[in-house]
Amino acid sequence: MWILLALRNIGGSTGGTFASIFSTLGLFTWDTILTLINPILPRKRQIALTWNEYVPPTPTDSRSPCPALNALCNHGILPHDGKDISFKQIADVVHTHYNFSSTFCKFVCQYIASALKKDYNDKIELSAIGTHNCIEHDGSLVRADVFFQPDQGVPAPEIIRDFFSTTKDGKNVTPADCARAITNRLTHSGRNNPHFSLRGIHSFFAASNAATLIVIMGGKIEVLEPFLLEERIPEGWTSANKTRLGLTMGRFNLTVLRILLGIDPSWKSARGNGKSSA
Ligand code: HEM
Repeated sequence: MWILLALRNIGGSTGGTFASIFSTLGLFTWDTILTLINPILPRKRQIALTWNEYVPPTPTDSRSPCPALNALCNHGILPHDGKDISFKQIADVVHTHYNFSSTFCKFVCQYIASALKKDYNDKIELSAIGTHNCIEHDGSLVRADVFFQPDQGVPAPEIIRDFFSTTKDGKNVTPADCARAITNRLTHSGRNNPHFSLRGIHSFFAASNAATLIVIMGGKIEVLEPFLLEERIPEGWTSANKTRLGLTMGRFNLTVLRILLGIDPSWKSARGNGKSSA
């Protein structure tokens, strides 16, 4: 799946130059090596990283549709105003603070940089990450669709609470809960959003983003509530992934695939006014 994404990325952004192909293939080869050696390396000790004090965003601060990136700003790990941030800076702190592997962080940040026609070292403000139908898509679990809420930096509490209320035990989020919630959101958006659109690749992003709630955030609703509603990291939290080299794309995809396969394709026939190119 990530390979398909990489090939799209290469073709769409650089005209398929050899340098870019080799760099992306190199990243995948390196990720495979990290995936294989990670299980035999000693795990990270549970050293609590300092997240600094939580300061909610002001109306002039720039925020994205991603709760994880916004939390980094709200806790002052990235600049609080969400401005003048390079893709490299994002990749570095996502690695240190959430324990995603360096390969995952570099790949995702390079992907989004090239989709926005920027260089990896260029600086952006966080709202640029929310460019519609880049990674941001309709039917999200934490945001109202851009048709209803043009500012994709703002959480949608009723959608988030709805998601929690449909989990099986009301305490933990599982891959099956995520798949069900994504199906519900896509069905609802398809019926009610006259500008609804969703390309195939966005179902993959939806499953990937949801998977982070389990494999990085730990899946407990008592943690996910402040994380999604306030974009705040609770005191003492550390990444659920304790591997020495961080969560690789290879390992991450196992959970992503479970969610992706659980999404009920019937949401497509529930489309009302909406259109989709999926
Ligand atoms: C590596 C840098 C990252 C980038 C560029 C990024 C980008 C994004 C974008 C554009 C969205 C909006 C997708 C949508 O419309 O639903 C998003 C959503 C999300 N991201 Fe991130 N993200 C990153 C890292 C992370 C990390 C480390 C986590 C978890 C710890 C995370 C968790 C989420 C979640 C839970 C959502 C909402 C999913 C949904 O609404 O269905 N992201 N991210």
